[in-house]
Amino acid sequence: MTRAAAVAEEFERRFGGEGRPRVFRAPGRVNLIGEHTDYNEGFVMPAATDLAAFAAVAAADDRRVSVVSLDINEEFSFDLDDADAERRGEWGDYVQGVALALEAGGFRLRGARLVVSSEVTMGSGLSSSAALEVASARALLGAAGLEAEPLAVARLCQRAENEFVGVRSGIMDQYAACFGREGHALLLDCRSLESRALPVPEGVRIVVCNTMVKHSLAGGEYNRRRADCEEAARLLGVRALRDVGAEEFARRADELPERLRRRARHVITENARVGEAAAALTASDLGAFGRAMNESHFSLRDDYEVSCAELDLMAELGRRRPGVHGARMMGGGFGGCTVNLVEEGAVEGFFGEVPAAYERETGLKPALYVCRASEGASEVTL
Ligand code: GLA
Repeated sequence: MTRAAAVAEEFERRFGGEGRPRVFRAPGRVNLIGEHTDYNEGFVMPAATDLAAFAAVAAADDRRVSVVSLDINEEFSFDLDDADAERRGEWGDYVQGVALALEAGGFRLRGARLVVSSEVTMGSGLSSSAALEVASARALLGAAGLEAEPLAVARLCQRAENEFVGVRSGIMDQYAACFGREGHALLLDCRSLESRALPVPEGVRIVVCNTMVKHSLAGGEYNRRRADCEEAARLLGVRALRDVGAEEFARRADELPERLRRRARHVITENARVGEAAAALTASDLGAFGRAMNESHFSLRDDYEVSCAELDLMAELGRRRPGVHGARMMGGGFGGCTVNLVEEGAVEGFFGEVPAAYERETGLKPALYVCRASEGASEVTL
């Protein structure tokens, strides 16, 4: 049974008296290049994955939202008018945060019953949170009979994460979940919020390797990096680090204290690498694309300091394989996944060697997955 059918079936079982549900899906994302650039109003290149979160929903005649998670068999409910709502540090925060953000954004919701389930493993670095947020947003809007532009959905879901969940994340994940396009990556300008779909070339595969570690520093360090960037931009007298080019930075780097200089150098060089990678993709120069990915990893490791031993090892194991154009850590860092650009014919060898070598060195069994770039959020017809 598909995941969409499973949430619909569970809905009928739990809330059967309340009418047939509608079902919405929203995908996770991979990011080919452009890490920690989104909140600096820079450039990123994500693609939506074929793994997604699903929400079955029907409206209720009150202002209560009840959500069942099929994955952990837990129910959570809240009142849309609860003005003192606070996060609980659990999965339900994403749904409640989204409901509050939608209402604050002018969408008058109705009470609703939901069943959610996700193929995107929590904490795996494939943005399970954005998938759940966007699926919930679409479901809550649908139950209230409202339509919203995808950009409004992406922004309000980001707001939920920033204000209710408490992570000051950028817009990349929610944008990818809303705007993903089959067979394409999105070259997104995080200032104008305009994107261009770039086809993933024939004959290569995007392979994601989950290190199976998530270091607890992730949340706090993320917000700290963002604060560092804002401070560096302030000292350089610009609105965001996006406004400083590589040449200007080479001249002015001394204006920053040592740590901020390295943080800024990562962001500024990473923005340049996204541009190089986009040009390489257009020219079908996968070698150049892969080199930019490798450089991205080194910069995240050395200047931005968001990698960890397991990510360094996994990226290196990938990089050493024949037929691998590039490998790097992906997402916020301190654990989660690497992303690898692999020749189709080299995928089998990659799966045969990389996990075994990683397990030998760390004692951890990694999870590998070939990602198909997919469409953004949609309603599912069952
Ligand atoms: C997380 C955030 C994104 C982005 C990445 C790092 O995934 O949610 O907004 O900042 O980290 O590139």
